[in-house]
Amino acid sequence: MKLVLIGMMGSGKSSVGRKVAKELNWDFYDVDSEIEKEAGKKISDIFASSGELDFRSLEKNMIQNLSQKDKIVLSTGGGAPCSEENWKALSQNGLILWLKASPEKLLERIQRKPLETRPLLMQKSSPLETLSRILQTRENIYKKAEYIVETEHLTLQEVTKKIVNWVKSKE
Ligand code: S3P
Repeated sequence: MKLVLIGMMGSGKSSVGRKVAKELNWDFYDVDSEIEKEAGKKISDIFASSGELDFRSLEKNMIQNLSQKDKIVLSTGGGAPCSEENWKALSQNGLILWLKASPEKLLERIQRKPLETRPLLMQKSSPLETLSRILQTRENIYKKAEYIVETEHLTLQEVTKKIVNWVKSKE
């Protein structure tokens, strides 16, 4: 079995995923970091040099590979679950969990790092407007997750505990 964390950028997938994996004694993988390792480039450079379509294709291949693994926590990029093919691979022997937060909260967390690391936010409209718009187009997909954790008012520790308990109840 694997645990798959989905949600918008800034929802905490990587930090939560790493902590949950440690508690469960499972391996942790972050799809974006694995893509960066394989390509030898940052995600923002892949977007800049090859465009989003090429990035989505690397993402799809990485998801196919990582989805074969067992006893892992997998953190995905915000757009990953939007492809049906990706969803299928992720949900096979996988528990899909959405880390939910409002656009305001997402922005607050995102702003802890330079915005240049988030290619989708490098647009004309304000980051908050962009986040709201993207969330709106993805919400119906994220909602299909087996478990939704409202992270808005919870600490990293509280979110981790909730998830660990849930996974243990599923084992
Ligand atoms: C994306 C989110 C990013 C990264 C890429 C595209 C998205 O990952 O995969 O920039 O489509 O929302 P995070 O969600 O980890 O920031």
